Amino acid sequence: MSARSILTGIGSYLPRRIVTNDELSRTVDTSDEWIKERTGIKQRHFAAPHETATFMGAEAARAALADAGATPSDVDGIIVATSTPDQAFPATAVRIQAALGVTKGFGFDVAAACAGFVYALSIADSMIKCGQAKGVLVIGSEVYSRILNWADRGTCVLFGDGAGAIFLRAGKGTGNDQGVLSTHIHAQGSLGDILYVDGAVGQPDKPGHLVMQGREVFRHAVVRLAEAVQEALDANDLTSAAIDWLVPHQANRRIIDAMGRKLGIPAERVVVTVENHANTSAASVPLALCEAWKDGRIKRGDLVLLDALGGGLVWGSALVRM
Ligand code: UT7
Repeated sequence: MSARSILTGIGSYLPRRIVTNDELSRTVDTSDEWIKERTGIKQRHFAAPHETATFMGAEAARAALADAGATPSDVDGIIVATSTPDQAFPATAVRIQAALGVTKGFGFDVAAACAGFVYALSIADSMIKCGQAKGVLVIGSEVYSRILNWADRGTCVLFGDGAGAIFLRAGKGTGNDQGVLSTHIHAQGSLGDILYVDGAVGQPDKPGHLVMQGREVFRHAVVRLAEAVQEALDANDLTSAAIDWLVPHQANRRIIDAMGRKLGIPAERVVVTVENHANTSAASVPLALCEAWKDGRIKRGDLVLLDALGGGLVWGSALVRM
């Protein structure tokens, strides 16, 4: 039997600075009522200058290794999901490798916007299954506050900064089905213009700001995320009743609720952090996973379904027995 990817540790990092809706409404033409009613968001964390994707990702990775009882010498690969790297290259993963004192293995970044963590998890799982790696850190780390257009109230109130990480180890698991059971990832490039960043280091005089057609993304998100969840259930011959916890991408409370209803998963089994973190893109799923792991809601043996969707469009799901 090929190796299983066992999720041995989870960690996270949030910038110290919390910005409430009320604070934001002093500089943006918005209100606490509008943001809460349309999105569920009450506050978000914003990074200080030193809190880069590398800094936050390394902090989250240290916490994940500590949670796993592992050391940097156990790591032979780092995959970072981010659309807000410190530099075009070296990859954030390589910078984090140095920060952690890891001296072997590989490191690279994955650019799949808000679905980045699920994409990175899918790649790490495949590498472990085929014997290419034994201990892989999978990290989502984002500083969206640096790419927001503060003149666009339709987007700048929706995002926050942070990082989450997991440590996967090759193993057989304690039960028959412990570990990553399946991952599914998808892209539809023809929808690239409904959510994108209008610049990058390769473009002259265009640092790049996030642009989104919110209603269009909302419409696709509800359909695609529900499909990705159903795909995971079908692949494992399960129904939604078997899921202990759904940990969805945290973009909008209304999307999360609509999906839960569509799939018949009760709200008590859905992890929601969007009210405190807002949308942290590739960090949103591992941040939510970490919160429910630390507070004891998610336990060893639980069946956990992760899903995410982002600019691309890109989306996917992962089913994990803890
Ligand atoms: O992570 C990637 C995935 N991203 C998502 O899944 C986001 C998906 N989209 C959404 O979550 C929602 O579409 C939004 C939260 C972005 C917007 O909610 P909406 O209910 O679709 O609002 P809307 O864009 O249709 O705007 C409704 C009204 C407009 O005013 P009028 O034209 O009706 O007079 C906007 O100008 O709300 C106005 N508005 C605001 N008002 C106060 C838009 N943004 C704001 C704001 N504060 N921040």
